[in-house]
Order: sequence, then structure tokens, then C-alpha cells
Amino acid sequence: MSQAKDHNNTALMEKIVSLCKRRGIIFQSSEIYGGLNGFWDYGPLGAELKRNLRDAWWRTMTREREDVVGLDATIIMHPSIWKASGHVDTFCDMMVDCKTCKGRFRADHIGGISCPQKPSKCVADCAGEKTEPRPFNLMFQTYVGPIISEENVAYLRPETAQAIFAQYKNVLDSSRVKVPFGICQIGKAFRNEITPRNYTFRSREFEQMELEFFIKPDEAIEIIHGVVAQWSEGADISEPRANWGWEMWHRYWVEERTRFYESIGLTRDHLDYHWQTPDELAHYARACVDILFKFPFGTEELEGIAARGDFDLSQHSDFVGKYQDFFDEELKAAAAKLTDEEKQVLMTKKLAEAEEKTRKLAAKDQREASEDEITGAKAKMQTWCERLFKGFYIPHVIEPSAGLDRLALAILCAAFQEEEKEDINGKKEMRTYLRFHPRVAPTKIGIYPLLKNKPELVAKAREVYRMLKSDLNCFYDETAAIGRRYARQDEVGTPFGVTIDFETLGENAPELLDTVTVRERDSGAQSRVPLSELRAFLLARMQ
Ligand code: GLY
Repeated sequence: MSQAKDHNNTALMEKIVSLCKRRGIIFQSSEIYGGLNGFWDYGPLGAELKRNLRDAWWRTMTREREDVVGLDATIIMHPSIWKASGHVDTFCDMMVDCKTCKGRFRADHIGGISCPQKPSKCVADCAGEKTEPRPFNLMFQTYVGPIISEENVAYLRPETAQAIFAQYKNVLDSSRVKVPFGICQIGKAFRNEITPRNYTFRSREFEQMELEFFIKPDEAIEIIHGVVAQWSEGADISEPRANWGWEMWHRYWVEERTRFYESIGLTRDHLDYHWQTPDELAHYARACVDILFKFPFGTEELEGIAARGDFDLSQHSDFVGKYQDFFDEELKAAAAKLTDEEKQVLMTKKLAEAEEKTRKLAAKDQREASEDEITGAKAKMQTWCERLFKGFYIPHVIEPSAGLDRLALAILCAAFQEEEKEDINGKKEMRTYLRFHPRVAPTKIGIYPLLKNKPELVAKAREVYRMLKSDLNCFYDETAAIGRRYARQDEVGTPFGVTIDFETLGENAPELLDTVTVRERDSGAQSRVPLSELRAFLLARMQ
């Protein structure tokens, strides 16, 4: 980024932060006590914005789909969940301390090591001598019950995903779902980030919107359909097909999620994609694409879409000693038609894969796999194959995982507009407004009697307010000149204003009796709409 561009982007971010505070969108948490680093509160308009985003996500991900159901689980769960998921052992950042400046830095952010896709992560550092990297776990720890002891340790969840895996069997047994299907959840998650930064972007308490979409393993698809549909450029991923393997599902969800962002006002121009390299992948992922948003402070992750394989459900199966699996009638019927030789071919291939994986894992620790390890892995795989032939498998997972607070920030950044315009005296002034998509705008309609000292206008405006308020979040305003009232609502992104004037009362032009002026935020265009059609007129423009 050039220095001038950097400066402009910093100035832009400062304007957005200032607007958010001034108009009650985002406040620093505990501000009267000096704030708490990495924690943010949403004011009246921010709370509405977040609620609209949450509702849009929930509607798109579950209500409008036949193959996804919802969950609302607790924040504190059995601590073994985090052992099984790998978070206790591996959910950490490697940190180094600088012996000179006493700063603490992520080991991968210093010494010129930074991700080229995420240059804003670069940290300027002094040249002082550093300590060896040490792991810092990102989970917040607490105690369940009154005794502060090791056996009462629990964690605030660092992701909502694990509750979905832990409740997978209950959902399966209690709902009419079968693979492929998904379980989604929205909720708070907590990470004790070393360096919260970029306003609300990297916070310690945040809200996630996650879907775990369970699919058949490719081997099951091959047995049922003979061949697994593989991804290639230009493949049709508009509608799911029964013979899709995990790569097709992965691509499908990237496209679905992009469409969601478009539906709430983020265009493809605002977005970018980063396909993670093998060494960037989280411990559970076999592939992951980050959907990035071009924030003023850099192009950063909005959502990660990971192919988690069967990692999580397998881990929970091992930890609880009970298969978290699915019985697939179709697979059982198809497998019954396989010859012994065909089964043997598959088994041989899978056993060889198990051996190779065990050797590779050991090589990562710079050692050789032992015979016992290889025998154990092969025995496990043999059981896996035998169960597969009977119709049982642990489903694989595609996980679109989005951050609600990041999305709110992206929506604010994309909506922020400044325009120079002339007032009625020809004086130039800056017009600032938020160009929210009506679906997500915190306030949908401003309602204004032209004058506040005319009881008939006020009474009619209150009537309009009462008529609209149950369907649309309205703001009634009778103070100041009408232009000023428009500007105030433009600044917080209210897409429409309804003005009740003398024509509404039938004065001046009797044919305009019971009509109102509807003003559109972005263009300022005004139209005359009969009161009898107003509700339908506005509702049609909310989509
Ligand atoms: N569940 C994935 C994440 O929280 O990043």
C-alpha cells in the first residue's frame, strides 16, 4: 500500500469509527472505566444491524433450506470436548518476547515472515533479541462450581462448531434428517487474542455463525454411484447432486456463501478469496478457502470454508467410545452388490492410505512410525471398511464459518459514503451516508410530519408510524427542518423517508389527499404514494 493510500485508509477508518460512536452503532466496552481491550458493545443501531445480519444468515442457511436445521447450545461445555477437538493441545499461537522493548509478538509475524495475502498482519518490531517461541493457548479458562481446582476447569467455547459435533447424534435421532444435511448455530465465542486489533475485527468476545454440513465420504459415493463427481473449472455447482464428492460440496458452499454476501449488499468487487496452503491449514482441515473482504485496513478474512473431513466426529467417537456415525440404507444396498474382489480392492487401497498417513504424521514429528502404530492404524481402517460395507460411516464435513462482528464491520465499511453536494444557497458541503442494503439497514423508514406544530400533520404521521412499525423498524422524527431530518437518517443508512405534508391532508391539491412523499436515501428521489399502498410499496423494496 502506498503511504498516501495508507493515510487515506486510516482516515477513512477513523471516520467510520467516529460515526459508529456518535450515532450509537458501536461503543467501546466498559468505556466509563477506560475500556477493555478486545471487547466491544453495540449501541441501539448496532444491535439492530447485528440482529438483521443474524436473521438474514439464519433465514438463508436454515429456513430457506430443507437440508439444514438449527441448534442453540451452551457456551460452557464439558471440557473433554476441547480435548477431543484438539483445542486444549493445539489451539495456540507461538509467541516470542522481545528482551529489549518487552513487546510480545506472534512468532510468525516477525523476522519478515508474514502471509503475502494478509500483509496487514506484518508487525514492525525493534531489532532486540527474542526469546524462544512459546505457546499461548487462546481459550479463556474458568471453573464450574465454587471450588477453584484442576478438575473443575472449563472453557468458554472458542468456536460454536464443537457443540454441533457433540449434539450430532441427538439431532440425527430426533429430526428427520439424513446425510447430506447440515446443523447450524449462531452464538458467542471467545478467544484470548494476544493482539486484538483493527477495531472490532479481531475481538476477544465475538459472535460466530457456523454451519457444519455433513456429507457422505467419497468412498460411499463411489460404491453407490460408481463414480464420484470431481471438481473441474466450469463444473455446474448451482444445485447439489447425489454423486458429489467433498470437493464439489466445498466449491458449492463457497459459491452459496458468496451469493449470501451479494444478497446483503457486498458485491464480488468487495470480496476476494484465499485458498489456504497446506501449512496454513488448521489442524482439522483438509482444505480451506477464506472469503476475504477489502477493509480499509487491509484485505482480511470474513469467513472460512473448511473441509474438515471426518476429523471431529471421529475424535468424539474415540473419546466417548461410541461411533458418531450414520447408517445409510442406500449404501448398504449398493455395497451388497459389490463382489468380494471389488471390496478387497477398496480395502487394499484404504489400508495403504492408512499406512502412508501414519508415516507422514510421524515424519512431521521428525521420527519414523513404529510397527505398532502402523498395525493399529491399519486395524482401525479395516474396521472402517467393514462398517462401510454394512452401510455405516462417520460423515465428512464442510464448514462455512463466518464472524458476525466482522460482517457487521464489513457492511459498515462497504456502506460508508461521502459526497460533496451544494445546499440550497449553493454552498458546498459534505454529505455522509451509509448505503446499507434495505435488508440489513438498522432503521428501515424515517417518518416525518412536515411541521411539528400542526396537530393534523402530527396525528397523521403518528397514524402512519403505527401502521408500519410492526413490519418495519421505523423512526419517528418531528424536530428540525425536513432536510436536516433526512440528513440525520441518511447518516445511519435509513433507506426510505416518509413525509406527511399538507397535500396528505388534502390541502392545496385535493387529488393528493391521503398520499405521502416517499424519499429514497441514495438518490434523494421522491415519489407520491397513496397511504393505502404504502405498506406494500415499502415492503417490496426491502428485499
Ligand atoms: N469453527 C472454525 C473456527 O472457529 O474458526
